[in-house]
Amino acid sequence: MNMRRGMVIGSALIALVGLMSSSGLTFASDQMAAKEILQQNCVQCHRLEGKADSRFNLKAPDLIWAGSKYRRPWLIGWLTGKEAPLYAKGYRWDLSEGPSKHPVVSASDANVLADYFAEHNKDPRVTVGAFNLSKVTKFEADFGAMAFKAHACLGCHTINEDGKIIGGPQSTALHASGQRYDQDWLFRFGLNPQDFVPHSGEFLADATEPQLRAVIGYLMTQGVSDFQYYEPWTSPEFGTASVGRGKVIYKEYCSQCHGATGKGDGPAASGLDPKPAIHANIPFEKLPMEYLYNVINHGGPAIGKSPNMPYWNLTIGQQGVADVIAYLKATFKGSPAGAAAASSAPAASAMPAKAVAVPAAAAATAISSSGGRSDACVQPRKTAKAPDSFLVMTNPLAVSVEVLEAGKTLFQKSAKPAACAMCHGEKGDGKGMMGAALVPPPRNFTCNAMMKDIPDGQLFWIIKKGSPGTGMMSFSGLSDDKVWQLIHYIRSLAH
Ligand code: HEC
Ligand code: HEC
Ligand code: HEC
Ligand code: HEC
Repeated sequence: MNMRRGMVIGSALIALVGLMSSSGLTFASDQMAAKEILQQNCVQCHRLEGKADSRFNLKAPDLIWAGSKYRRPWLIGWLTGKEAPLYAKGYRWDLSEGPSKHPVVSASDANVLADYFAEHNKDPRVTVGAFNLSKVTKFEADFGAMAFKAHACLGCHTINEDGKIIGGPQSTALHASGQRYDQDWLFRFGLNPQDFVPHSGEFLADATEPQLRAVIGYLMTQGVSDFQYYEPWTSPEFGTASVGRGKVIYKEYCSQCHGATGKGDGPAASGLDPKPAIHANIPFEKLPMEYLYNVINHGGPAIGKSPNMPYWNLTIGQQGVADVIAYLKATFKGSPAGAAAASSAPAASAMPAKAVAVPAAAAATAISSSGGRSDACVQPRKTAKAPDSFLVMTNPLAVSVEVLEAGKTLFQKSAKPAACAMCHGEKGDGKGMMGAALVPPPRNFTCNAMMKDIPDGQLFWIIKKGSPGTGMMSFSGLSDDKVWQLIHYIRSLAH
């Protein structure tokens, strides 16, 4: 087995490099020493030059481009035996079934080797700066995570999702990619894997360059718990945003659906279901910039809403997005009557068939004209009923302090595309700041008389897929466990 051989070489190597290392070596003699170490201890398994070849003709991954591929701390860690095996089933899984133990060198030799690779094994195909790590947004990384799965990458590579290692352990582990890879190498690899690993079981994805960039961005967050995401709304364009320019954009691009005065009654609205949001009822100043940016820049689906809300990034650019957000904030302050009226008004948009017939203008008028606060406990509920296979589901998690805490964090803060509290309110009473504009209004979880009759499986189904035609977006990105944590928390709010 590989493993025994590796260990013998490992100990022989330690003895050898122990003899060789000495403090006063110059760079040139370090390079000589490195060459010596490589010749003695590495080349029997690794190639340092030549053309890309099939894994089935190799003993170990090629180091031909080692000077471009790794982040230095990872390389030092790997060579000094501090990193986990990369191939769970062995690099040559056709010959072995488990990971092999890798030879270990001293820290000083590892540094000498890293210098040597940087000097002699740079890959001329890799463009330094081709991938800008400081411009990766949270949205892009989340999208990359989706694309990673959609393109079957998970079938052969492992990643870390919510602290669990998932995926097929056929090829190299990618769950610490952000610590391991140089981003420019990774990007070049992604452009054509066969330039590096032909006939090795590799896979060419039919992905566009933006998708590839999103996947690379996502991989570079793997294993980096404090990854610094780029926040586009801190860019210079936002610093110089203009309400005046935003007003022009609103007229040219938004009013066709949202209406000239933001009442949701533009010419396109009559044929849309769900209806365009009624901006006049939304207190934009209070909405998180991340949410506003994502819905306007990336479109409705970015926040779990209708794809009829277009993604505007290409049409109006960063400056346009910044300007129109400035205009929304300066113009629409929300309608205090909105929430109350919404809970008593007929739930037009919850009934798709009728909603088409109800002119948006009429719906908007109904909302702004009827006032007064309704504190109805049992809400009129037109929500679609979950399929039977869901209705029979019960919460598989035992309720505990930890589960409730986890549910609370998701509900109040961390759920994406938007924290539940933004609509359902911090207390779960349905009076969140974004809830005000919604017809029908968000569910009031504090109302035991109503909640006790809604089965777990119904809650689960709606959270996962949303309630189309209402403000309730889909949270399809949440794992089943997280949804069940939320359900325990929601139930704890009823009294
Ligand atoms: C007995 C064969 C063997 C020897 C000797 C050996 N390696 Fe490796 N090396 C491997 C295998 C196999 C892997 C794949 C890692 C795994 O299976 O987890 C690997 C992985 C690596 C990697 C990471 C490759 C990647 O996937 O990007 C580096 C870097 C590396 N070795 C450097 C060295 C250096 C430097 C030496 C000499 C000091 C050396 N290796 C000696 C077998 C060997
Ligand atoms: C059918 C299995 C399979 C699928 C699907 C697959 N890969 Fe791979 N991948 C491989 C193999 C095999 C290699 C070559 C390295 C090796 O010998 O394991 C590889 C290599 C890589 C490497 C370089 C690893 C290294 O350290 O040299 C990256 C990065 C990578 N794949 C990412 C992806 C991404 C992203 C996707 C989805 C678009 C994907 N892979 C889909 C099998 C697969
Ligand atoms: C083709 C029609 C259309 C156009 C044009 C359009 N929107 Fe929308 N927009 C929608 C629809 C439909 C929704 C509601 C989606 C839902 O509820 O699922 C929406 C929702 C929104 C929301 C989300 C409000 C909320 O409830 O959280 C914002 C913000 C928004 N649009 C801003 C804009 C801006 C700014 C423009 C112009 C740059 C614009 N929209 C142009 C159709 C449109
Ligand atoms: C953008 C506003 C908004 C956000 C954010 C939101 N909801 Fe809702 N939610 C609503 C609205 C509006 C309804 C009412 C839908 C209906 O009547 O069909 C609703 C209904 C529900 C229901 C009731 C299902 C039923 O069958 O009665 C559940 C459960 C629910 N939401 C859970 C959540 C959870 C959990 C989150 C956070 C992960 C969340 N919601 C985030 C607006 C929102």
